[in-house]
Amino acid sequence: MKIIACYSNKGGVGKTATAVNLAHALAASGRRVLLCDLDPQGASSFYFRVKPSRKLSEARFFDGDEKMVESIRASDYENLDILPANMAFRNFDVFLSQMKQPRSRLKKALAAVRADYEVILLDCPPSLSTLSEAVFRAADAILVPVIPTTLSQRTFEQLLAFFAENDLPTDRLHAMFSMVQTTKRLHADTMAELQGACPDRFLTARIPFATDVERMGIDRAPVTATLPNSAAARAYRAVCAEVVVRAGLDRDTGTA
Ligand SMILES: Nc1ncnc2c1ncn2[C@@H]1O[C@H](COP(=O)(O)OP(=O)(O)OP(=O)(O)O)[C@@H](O)[C@H]1O
Ligand SMILES: [Mg+2]
Repeated sequence: MKIIACYSNKGGVGKTATAVNLAHALAASGRRVLLCDLDPQGASSFYFRVKPSRKLSEARFFDGDEKMVESIRASDYENLDILPANMAFRNFDVFLSQMKQPRSRLKKALAAVRADYEVILLDCPPSLSTLSEAVFRAADAILVPVIPTTLSQRTFEQLLAFFAENDLPTDRLHAMFSMVQTTKRLHADTMAELQGACPDRFLTARIPFATDVERMGIDRAPVTATLPNSAAARAYRAVCAEVVVRAGLDRDTGTA
């Protein structure tokens, strides 16, 4: 079983779009997948038409309470379950900061479900907080969407520095270019610069800027399901293929 986080300390870079399509692509490849929505905005739950889990408080989430398992919902897709978020999740940081060893609590909480899945995907809120540090320690791979613009580049460099300063495993950080507009000179230049500065850090696959992805809010379904032949769906499947190798899912025996 592998835990893969879709994470960035920057908002609106495509974390949720990636989590939703990657979850669907992994499930379509025959793996049992749990998409765990850690963002109180509940966007990935919304995309999968799953209602918020009102009874799952932050205490129940982190205490290995059976309410966590009971809150898991089946999606409309085979092999794919969703743990929906709710507004109580906005208190995760305050709650964690009051606990002993807060950074190891997420991994412990997910132990309750790890036997049932081959992949647990985490859709993370945009912050660099105690919850984020718990995500960094729980995840086998951290997938970071980066829009090839100056501010997004800067945020990614801040994240690399944070990992180095805090002895976090930088080899678990995998970046991917998101919302790429090939006609823009700035995008091409930023991608070249980042790939030069961080060789092997970036996936080869790139997600194009695509109206089909924006439509997910209307269709409330992954683009890999609704428009499987679109450029965006093909790019997400290519991301999926690379993530399978980078996270070691291709070598995974299935044991926890
Ligand atoms: N490849 C894409 N092309 C065009 N629009 C996109 C693409 N990916 C995401 N979007 C749009 O950009 C917005 C932000 O995307 P998304 O919600 O996935 O980002 P996020 O990083 O999860 O944001 P947040 O930090 O708020 O959780 C959404 O409106 C989404 O529809
Ligand atoms: Mg999001």
